[in-house]
Amino acid sequence: MKNHFCPPSSVLRCPLDIDRFDATAYIAAMALREILILPDKRLRLKSEPVKRVDAAVRKLVEDMFETMYDAPGIGLAAIQVGTPKRVVTMDLSKKEDTEKNPLVFINPEVLWSSEETATYEEGCLSIPEYYGDVERPAQVRVKYLDLEGKAHEIEANGLLATCLQHEIDHTNGVLFIDHLSKLKRDRVIKKFTKAAKRAAE
Ligand code: NI
Repeated sequence: MKNHFCPPSSVLRCPLDIDRFDATAYIAAMALREILILPDKRLRLKSEPVKRVDAAVRKLVEDMFETMYDAPGIGLAAIQVGTPKRVVTMDLSKKEDTEKNPLVFINPEVLWSSEETATYEEGCLSIPEYYGDVERPAQVRVKYLDLEGKAHEIEANGLLATCLQHEIDHTNGVLFIDHLSKLKRDRVIKKFTKAAKRAAE
């Protein structure tokens, strides 16, 4: 999910700045990844669950944070950088916040969602410069694993609830434009398909 209220200048480029002093090799190993853009077919893949939270998964998470902060965006699913694993990174801290708040959700799954709904204007790093109002359940309970492989459950509302649902949708090959009217969806897909063809020429 893209936060278009937050200008790039307010975003630290690296979520792991504190490590810079003693782990230069580690920082050097981090990599910006290319973000897949609509209509890339890989965005429609259903991602595989993570079987074991190992070094490869932690490296993927580091790369996702670097890519997400660089974009800048407030949420990213692994499939958006071409890795079909059920891994989500997020940071909903506001531009006036001095501390970053990196969140990781591995194998996130909605256990319960409220009947009450909330509408947010959503965007997506895979559909740049396009925004649309999406109505979703206002509250959700989500289970997930952390970077140590430990299981957690959270109840979320507000922006976190919307963002979790948006990113979990990505792990199932669903995009926020799928929640818009067919007319709007077809229009944006057509626009991005044309742009991709032009770029390939
Ligand atoms: Ni998105």
